[in-house]
Amino acid sequence: MSNENGMAPGQIVKVLVGIVVFLVVAITLLAKLATSGFNIDAEVMTNESVSARLKPAGESVASDGQPGSRSGEQVFQAVCISCHGAGLLGSPKFGDAAAWGPRIAKGYDTLLQHALGGFNAMPAKGGNTTLTDSEVARAVAYMANKAGAKFAEPKSDASGASAAGSAPASAAVDPEVTGKKIYESVCVACHQAGVSGAPKFGDKAAWAVRLKPGLDEVQKIATKGLNAMPPKGGFSGSDAEFRSAIEYMANHSK
Ligand code: HEC
Ligand code: HEC
Repeated sequence: MSNENGMAPGQIVKVLVGIVVFLVVAITLLAKLATSGFNIDAEVMTNESVSARLKPAGESVASDGQPGSRSGEQVFQAVCISCHGAGLLGSPKFGDAAAWGPRIAKGYDTLLQHALGGFNAMPAKGGNTTLTDSEVARAVAYMANKAGAKFAEPKSDASGASAAGSAPASAAVDPEVTGKKIYESVCVACHQAGVSGAPKFGDKAAWAVRLKPGLDEVQKIATKGLNAMPPKGGFSGSDAEFRSAIEYMANHSK
């Protein structure tokens, strides 16, 4: 019983059944594909293979945090892991309390010195000179603490992320505390006596001229360096810390 335009009810049923069967088969195949895809991912996502794949991309991992403000863990994941992850070249392996015990016993300051300056097969800053000293300091504390030490991880350089960016660093770092310390350990070498024409600490006339363009401009100039003034005065910490040293000198030369 058919007409010219359509199919017999029997035929319609057959077509419908065909469609349903096709859908079931297609869904089954898709499901299989999806699960096998998932299995492959699960294998690839083991810790070792992930860290192995992250290694060449270490720099980009590091840049997830603002340079200068990366946590100890971020620095470890980006740089130190390439040796300390597996204990390459005789390096104390991450999380290995027995390997780290004698190292930790040397004290945090010695470990930090060795991490910053290098120690036998341990390259200075783990070979990544873009790390700031305080980032390395945090990485040392992070690794040592994961192996049983209880070192305080030094605070971020850039208190407030904007300090590391182009925004003028606010006085988030206290000139009377941090600035004074930096002055007394770095800037004092030239600015106390006025070596090579450096504006002398406490010399109002000398500083008044320097400070005319405003602190932001002065910081820019001093960051780049100016004649006998080395870039950042040779200070290797963050911009915010450097700024606090300028503020300290300026505040005491008014
Ligand atoms: C190229 C490989 C390599 C990289 C990368 C590396 N280290 Fe090391 N590290 C070593 C080796 C090797 C030693 C052991 C040196 C020795 O005891 O002779 C070591 C030792 C150390 C020690 C112990 C020093 C001591 O006095 O016993 C510290 C702390 C340390 N590394 C920190 C770091 C930090 C922080 C990073 C990342 C910023 C890092 N390392 C990246 C190879 C590396
Ligand atoms: C090696 C010597 C030396 C050290 C160390 C040094 N300075 Fe200077 N600084 C100079 C000299 C020299 C000048 C003057 C440069 C000129 O005008 O020719 C100067 C100028 C400056 C100025 C004025 C820049 C301007 O705009 O005129 C600032 C600010 C400054 N230093 C900050 C610092 C701070 C902060 C530190 C420590 C973190 C530091 N300096 C460490 C030698 C030094």
